[in-house]
Amino acid sequence: MYDSHNSPVIGIDLGTTFSAVARWTGEDADVYSPKGERTMQSVVFYDEKTDKFIFGRTAFMSGMLKPENLCIGVKRLMDNKDAKVTLGGKEYSPIDISSMILKSLYSNVKGMFPEGVYDASGAVVTVPYYFKAHQCENTAEAAKKAGLNLVGILQEPIAAAFAYGLHHSSKDTVRNENILVFDLGGGTFDITLFKIVEDRENIKFEVLAIGGDDRLGGLDFDNSFMKYILDKEGIDLDECDNERMKKIGLQKLMDSVTKSKEALSSTDSVFMGVPDVIPGVHIDNEYTREDFEESISNYLEEIKAILKSTLNAANIDPKDIDKVLKVGGSSKIPAMDMIIEEVVGRGKTYSDIDPSLCVAQGAAIYGAYLTNNLAIDKKITIETTTAHALGVEDSNGSMVVLIHQNQKTPARKTLTFTTDEDNSTEIDVEVYQGASRIAKQNAHIGTVKIKGLVPKPKYELQIKITFEVGKEQMVKVTVEQEESNIKHTEMLKLA
Ligand SMILES: Nc1ncnc2c1ncn2[C@@H]1O[C@H](COP(=O)(O)OP(=O)(O)OP(=O)(O)O)[C@@H](O)[C@H]1O
Ligand SMILES: [Mg+2]
Repeated sequence: MYDSHNSPVIGIDLGTTFSAVARWTGEDADVYSPKGERTMQSVVFYDEKTDKFIFGRTAFMSGMLKPENLCIGVKRLMDNKDAKVTLGGKEYSPIDISSMILKSLYSNVKGMFPEGVYDASGAVVTVPYYFKAHQCENTAEAAKKAGLNLVGILQEPIAAAFAYGLHHSSKDTVRNENILVFDLGGGTFDITLFKIVEDRENIKFEVLAIGGDDRLGGLDFDNSFMKYILDKEGIDLDECDNERMKKIGLQKLMDSVTKSKEALSSTDSVFMGVPDVIPGVHIDNEYTREDFEESISNYLEEIKAILKSTLNAANIDPKDIDKVLKVGGSSKIPAMDMIIEEVVGRGKTYSDIDPSLCVAQGAAIYGAYLTNNLAIDKKITIETTTAHALGVEDSNGSMVVLIHQNQKTPARKTLTFTTDEDNSTEIDVEVYQGASRIAKQNAHIGTVKIKGLVPKPKYELQIKITFEVGKEQMVKVTVEQEESNIKHTEMLKLA
């Protein structure tokens, strides 16, 4: 029996800047609001006085006085589990920090109940579509370390599509829709194009194309807007030679800049008052939406270009897109609507979904599905595409791509190569993953060593290399050479 109150399946959106937790109620995905807030800032502060860690907005505020004890944006470090975050003189890994954040999110929810009552039966944690296998594993490790019963990891855009697609689905719902998920958060910009095909027995989510930039988001807008304001005010932070005061001033200013930016999504102008940005220098001025848009104009161009090129690469006519789902806090910026209207068309944005909460909701829905608690008789399938290109290094050091980015999985491709030295009896097939034309600039995921080739003059032996990728995060590499009677297969783990 599913106990949706005391031991529900929960979904956690572990965001770069904000996180949220939702539960499956049995009918709906409901976002928790411990302490009256439905999202929590993904920040950690080490409080020396109590020798304890604190989280969320309080942590952020405390960090203003002691920035050296504050960690912001740890998600951007999840690709390197050996990275070091120093808090209060001690070193922590990104997995440690993420697990602390997850633990805090969970204990805030638990704190809404009398002691000993609440115990989530399972949890799904979300990651960006761009996350590679090891980044997903690091996230899973953080969840386990936080004591969560992890039942799945889900990509954020898929979560958003679930929140949209499964929310109002009934037995009789039949549809065939192209959905564009426009996810602009604190740290990443993700575009995902889905086809949702639903009949009385099935719901299929098919990823048609993806695009984006994993280093573009609200944090960058904050930085640009702050520089713009400092410039307008003629303030040079470097004039302050007290490092500590400078850091404090910077953080105070940043807090005010972020708030103003957010306010400018719903009003035309804001008043900014920040005393002692550096001792004795104050900001006391009005800033408009135009000011903000001007300060991020290069990012706006970039976003437009990425959106266009993603649609182009997928060969999708914007006319064929039925709905646009805006996801992520930064998608609330009015300039984004202009971009969407210009590139995709008018009147397509679906607004019955909260950009800041739908990822956590979709994760809760997925958790319910995985644990057989989703009261839906339809079979759900997800068809994804490859997020990164896969290829081999040729003798010039170039990347020869076998599986392209955005290819539907399962995918399979064979290319024929040859030896470039006389009488070679061995070759090393170097396998890489990534977008660079120079193989070594991509992630090296393995070497397939082939021995026992029959000696022949160069360019004579034909060597067939086949790559196959399925749903799991692996590539199956097969190397065949007929005359030498070689057929060698290896499974390599994606980066
Ligand atoms: N009304 C608003 N207008 C403009 N920006 C906003 C608004 N509300 C929130 N933001 C910005 O959205 C960002 C946070 O978005 P969100 O919570 O979706 O990101 P995240 O999930 O932490 O990041 P990511 O998905 O990249 O990991 C912050 O930079 C915040 O300032
Ligand atoms: Mg997010």
